[in-house]
Amino acid sequence: MTFYLEGDLGAGKTTLVRGLLRALGHEGRVKSPTYTLAEIYSLPAFEVYHFDLYRMHDPREWLDAGFRDISDGRAVSLIEWPEKAAGWLPPPDVIIRLTIADEAREIECEAASLRGAHYLESFCTLC
Ligand SMILES: Nc1ncnc2c1ncn2[C@@H]1O[C@H](COP(=O)(O)OP(=O)(O)OP(=O)(O)O)[C@@H](O)[C@H]1O
Ligand SMILES: [Mg+2]
Repeated sequence: MTFYLEGDLGAGKTTLVRGLLRALGHEGRVKSPTYTLAEIYSLPAFEVYHFDLYRMHDPREWLDAGFRDISDGRAVSLIEWPEKAAGWLPPPDVIIRLTIADEAREIECEAASLRGAHYLESFCTLC
């Protein structure tokens, strides 16, 4: 599954990833991959790749870093600033848009594939 995380600087993308990883059982630190571009978490069920592409200057850096090879079917990729590598990334299953609303945040989730639609449906029945 590939999630694009969209929203302005400070919209809460990394904070959301932190919450997701904690909910999935990760107990260690969750660093923002602002400088490393990627952080990898090996969870019992699957691997999570957290990308922050804000500092990428050229979309081809995505290929040069070898990221294309790790975006395989079993992993979950959470990508901040996907627009920085537009055209090179795996297509999204779900697009999450965050906007600042004073002290809080608004979140909008859009299914961008059949798999993403199934995911959001099952997620919504839990709400
Ligand atoms: N849901 C929320 N409610 C209130 N404050 C939040 C929420 N999410 C994030 N924040 C606060 O907003 C600030 C920025 O959050 P965060 O670093 O997650 O943003 P970001 O979208 O990842 O930014 P960047 O584009 O720079 O990577 C932090 O101080 C964080 O505590
Ligand atoms: Mg961030």
